[in-house]
Amino acid sequence: MTDKRYWLVIPAAGTGQRMKTGRPKQYLHLQNRFLLDVTLSRLLQAAAFDGCMVALHPADSWWEKSESARDSRITTCAGGAERRDSVLLALQALEPEASVDDWVLVHDVARPCLGAADLKNLMSILDEHPVGGLLACPVSDTLKYAGADCAVTGTLDRTGIWRALTPQMFRFGLLREALEQAAVDGVPVTDEASAVEHAGNSPQLVEGSSDNIKVTVPGDLPMAEFILSRLGAGH
Ligand code: C5P
Repeated sequence: MTDKRYWLVIPAAGTGQRMKTGRPKQYLHLQNRFLLDVTLSRLLQAAAFDGCMVALHPADSWWEKSESARDSRITTCAGGAERRDSVLLALQALEPEASVDDWVLVHDVARPCLGAADLKNLMSILDEHPVGGLLACPVSDTLKYAGADCAVTGTLDRTGIWRALTPQMFRFGLLREALEQAAVDGVPVTDEASAVEHAGNSPQLVEGSSDNIKVTVPGDLPMAEFILSRLGAGH
């Protein structure tokens, strides 16, 4: 028996304007389901969580039509103006039940292709870690600096450069405090790890699959369909 507890937080309060589809991307269709339902059902099937909090846009009119709305394991709260506000509001909603040393895994709703093996690997590698960490991928492309005119001004040394993916898994109390502090200090926070780093900690990178894409532009949807069909076939 373990007394470790794991909470799942899904920021899903974005409006997905880069998709230019007129509806939030989490409600676009993937495998004939809402993208959000694919992400949530895959995660909840892959690991056992003590609770799952989904942050929704306050004006979300789609949630009630989702399969997830009828899943008793899932609770919702209102998200905020930025992703980090949505995550913090979800943590605050879980606070009455969670303890500071519990683990919380934060996963973008827009990443439906997370593999179960990557999730299990993240959880087992970080099991005894004092801070936590995140799935990440080493960068394989050459990286360029350029101005607004797209004229190259330099090439970045890619040695030691990783792409941050989700889930990101941290101690509950540490993450909540780090996000609150980053907000007070006005530090840009595009993932949980940035806030945890700003608080003086060193999150652990756990190498994950580059298949764990974030659906951002319309062309990402067919790619997600393809990856999911391969994952379904046991690849
Ligand atoms: O827009 P982007 O893909 O970077 O958003 C990443 C994640 O953050 C998505 O899951 C999106 O729904 C979520 N988000 C949020 N609250 C916001 C903005 C984005 O929960 N205000």
